Amino acid sequence: MGKNQVNTLDSFLSHLESIFSVTIHDAKEIIDTFHREMSSGLAGMKSSLKMIPSFVGPPSGTEKGKYLVLDLGGTNIRVLAVELDGKGNTSMAAVSRFVIPQEMMCGAGDAIFDYIADCIKLFFEKNCIDRQKTYDLAFTFSFPVEQSSLASGKLIGWTKGFTASGVVGNDVVALLSAALRRKEMGFIHVVALANDTVGTLVAKCYSDPSCDMGVILGTGTNACYPEKVARILKCPVLGLSGKMIVNIEWGGFSQLKMNIYDQDLDCASRNADKQHLEKMVSGMYLGEIARRVIVEMMNRGLLFKGTNLSAFSREYMLHTEHLSLVAQGSDFFADFGLRDVSEVDRGTIRELCRIVSTRSAKIAGAAIAAVVTWMDANFESDHTIAIDGTLFEKYPGYQDHIVGVLRELFGECAKRIRLELVRDGSGIGSAIIGAVAASARPVSSGDDCGRHRI
Ligand code: GLC
Repeated sequence: MGKNQVNTLDSFLSHLESIFSVTIHDAKEIIDTFHREMSSGLAGMKSSLKMIPSFVGPPSGTEKGKYLVLDLGGTNIRVLAVELDGKGNTSMAAVSRFVIPQEMMCGAGDAIFDYIADCIKLFFEKNCIDRQKTYDLAFTFSFPVEQSSLASGKLIGWTKGFTASGVVGNDVVALLSAALRRKEMGFIHVVALANDTVGTLVAKCYSDPSCDMGVILGTGTNACYPEKVARILKCPVLGLSGKMIVNIEWGGFSQLKMNIYDQDLDCASRNADKQHLEKMVSGMYLGEIARRVIVEMMNRGLLFKGTNLSAFSREYMLHTEHLSLVAQGSDFFADFGLRDVSEVDRGTIRELCRIVSTRSAKIAGAAIAAVVTWMDANFESDHTIAIDGTLFEKYPGYQDHIVGVLRELFGECAKRIRLELVRDGSGIGSAIIGAVAASARPVSSGDDCGRHRI
């Protein structure tokens, strides 16, 4: 669209509305393309959906004990001790949270794993855990990993702003185990490696077997579901019976209409031309999309009277939390040194936040719809979808937009889809996966193969 055609505020806003729109026709197209890409991904053919076998099936609900979990997913590391009662109930016996410094995210791989090992050491010290014994640990690693077994897998590529060197192409369990040994923590054995979506699905399934999808809508976005092993054509060695959870890595879905702001954001990102869906949907990027629009509107004299041109100049300075504040009826202007913002400008920013977040929720809704219909084209069963992440949990109106898309697409059948918030699923689910791994180990004489639970 030419500059002259969009130089009044109203026409610019309706231009934005149209380039960020996701119509019901678009949603149907997303579903069809998703199905094609899922099928290619499962067959090991070229696809923007990686469809990664997790080597985990749905849990039985009887897994029991207290397990150690390391959760590395975004800007935080969590070390947890999770208690499972064998009857579908879980509790966190202890949790420690550590922030990952920016320089670690983008520094040397060994340094990040050494830092993680230090965090685990601090957790042991804080909780006075005996270091003369051996322990099993389940590792939630929320990045695309090509798993070769339950406890090994190579990082395919970093996402969510990480670029640490020496990790891509390597086994992340081996890297963690080496760091644990360097830090004299070799008595900890990594028995399971799981994506956060898989953890979330397993955590919900533990108490509710009708759950058949795990979704993350937070800093990043992704989903998993239990697939018939016979349909995972790229892994014929898996055998033909039963189900295995498949990590879709839907953040990589590339068949979406990107507008000029999406394209610019993508080009400037640390992983250009990758994770298209994630960059249009997830919490890491919504603020940055809005910032890019704000900059353009200031340049055109359509916001803040064109006077605050430097206020939004730094990339990623506007966060999804800021947009969420606006959606709650508050604002973020003070954080950007803006005083006396006019009512018109406030209204414009409100519109912009609505436009950017609504598109995110609608794409998420279409992607959920695609996975549900892949599993059950005729809605023969109920589907409980376990969802974690601040976007889903906290962004005002976000859940309603997802439900709205499902209703528009499926009418009455949409009632068969239940969206359920599952907090901390990534950690709890990994503990359950760890329990399954521990119980599958052949038992020799003595106590639990010499391994101790915490
Ligand atoms: C990114 C990661 C994916 C993870 C998601 C949510 O998309 O690649 O593995 O599940 O973020 O944390």
